[in-house]
Amino acid sequence: MTSTHAFWLAGRQVTGEDSFDVTSPWDDRLVGKVSVPTDAQTEEAVAAAYAVREDFAATPAHVRAAALDHVSRRLVERTEEIARLISAENGKPLKWARGEVGRAVSVFRFAAEEARRFNGGEAQRLDTDLGGQGRLAFTRRFPKGVVLGIAPFNFPLNLCAHKIAPAIAAGAPIILKPAPATPLSGLVIGELLAETELPAGAWSILPVPNDRMPALVQDPRLPVISFTGSEKVGYAIMDSVPRKHCTLELGGNGAAVVLADFASDEDLDWAAGRIATFSNYQGGQSCISVQRVIADTSVYDRLLPRIVAAVEAQITGDPGDDKTDVGPLVSEDAAKRVEAWVDEAVEAGAALLTGGKRDGASYAPTVLTDVPADVALSCEEVFGPVLTVQRADGEAAAFAAVNDSKYGLQAGVFTRDLQTAFRAHRALEVGGVVIGDVPSYRADQMPYGGAKQSGVGREGVKFAMDDYTYERVMVLTGLNL
Ligand code: SIN
Repeated sequence: MTSTHAFWLAGRQVTGEDSFDVTSPWDDRLVGKVSVPTDAQTEEAVAAAYAVREDFAATPAHVRAAALDHVSRRLVERTEEIARLISAENGKPLKWARGEVGRAVSVFRFAAEEARRFNGGEAQRLDTDLGGQGRLAFTRRFPKGVVLGIAPFNFPLNLCAHKIAPAIAAGAPIILKPAPATPLSGLVIGELLAETELPAGAWSILPVPNDRMPALVQDPRLPVISFTGSEKVGYAIMDSVPRKHCTLELGGNGAAVVLADFASDEDLDWAAGRIATFSNYQGGQSCISVQRVIADTSVYDRLLPRIVAAVEAQITGDPGDDKTDVGPLVSEDAAKRVEAWVDEAVEAGAALLTGGKRDGASYAPTVLTDVPADVALSCEEVFGPVLTVQRADGEAAAFAAVNDSKYGLQAGVFTRDLQTAFRAHRALEVGGVVIGDVPSYRADQMPYGGAKQSGVGREGVKFAMDDYTYERVMVLTGLNL
């Protein structure tokens, strides 16, 4: 019999009255049962977080840093077990799941380092004008209050880490809600935090059902909301609480541009390999996976067959097998939606070069060309292993094609020219431009977030800490400067 996983209420392991099943998208087997907090338990967690907020903000940096370092170290020790859990509940191939644990190790380590550095305070002399004579402004950052973190299913450990680690580093209590499809990896973070000396109430991990979230979103004791997920849900949250501070990490339809100067056989092999890998990693279920390839006309005919060959070389199958590159999507419904979008594009005139087949929750790595601009595959975020390839006549046309999207998360530009790199950085309306690689590159310490409909605010440990805190200035008077 499978035992029920408890959740974490103000640092304590607790069970509620109901539970739900977490099943593997690969073979539907039961991975675990998860206990659901009652309304009263949710209220207890919020009240505890609110009550501890001033004390937690004043906790010495070394205490917060030690706790974060501890979690980082324990994640290293438990890597294999946690990777297998991620793979089981999410369907992510083991090799990518191990990579995700490694990234979470770094996130907690960065957070420990930032906790030690953060908020040393900055002084600014005010005697630059007569009215400020003898005065000094001293600025430090203080938490805005308790953070409500809402995490998605696609990186069930690391995107929980990106909410919880910066909150602890900044001294802001957090209520974290993992995704209903993949709560188990987030709950493991609770096991590691419970081994630390952090005060009760500083963190809770509550698998609250989605239909009960509006009450938490509205709760005035939770002034900061950090959400990663769909554009629809993200903006619905923000619109429902316009006076709260919302960070939204939403969708993208990541473009990889291959320019005329990236033309040697070696260059094109590298670009095709990276594109094939990162349109399919985690079944394409990453906001920065490659969805659109925009190739200069001069390289298009040599690049396209390389991409198709590299996509066909992806090994699909059981996510628990070390060799598998591409596993199932998170659910059969998700795969059916991808199938419907590809079928719609083909009916509208797109050419299907490979893939285009569904088997349960799995969808074959797929490449299309001649995809009309107005179908979902071009305009929306596919969140599946599907790639469209188009030509562009020159750099300006390629950059315009990248920008011809409601989204703007990250873009990749394959070029070797420094001037082109700077022009791309200026021209592309995205949160991040990756030169010489796909848009899917993310280092967890760098600012990460979108322009346009891809969201508001930035994650990346230090940037999330900025987001969770505000500057408070103290003016000192009567000084002999
Ligand atoms: C996301 O899907 O937004 C996260 C991508 C990543 O962390 O690599």
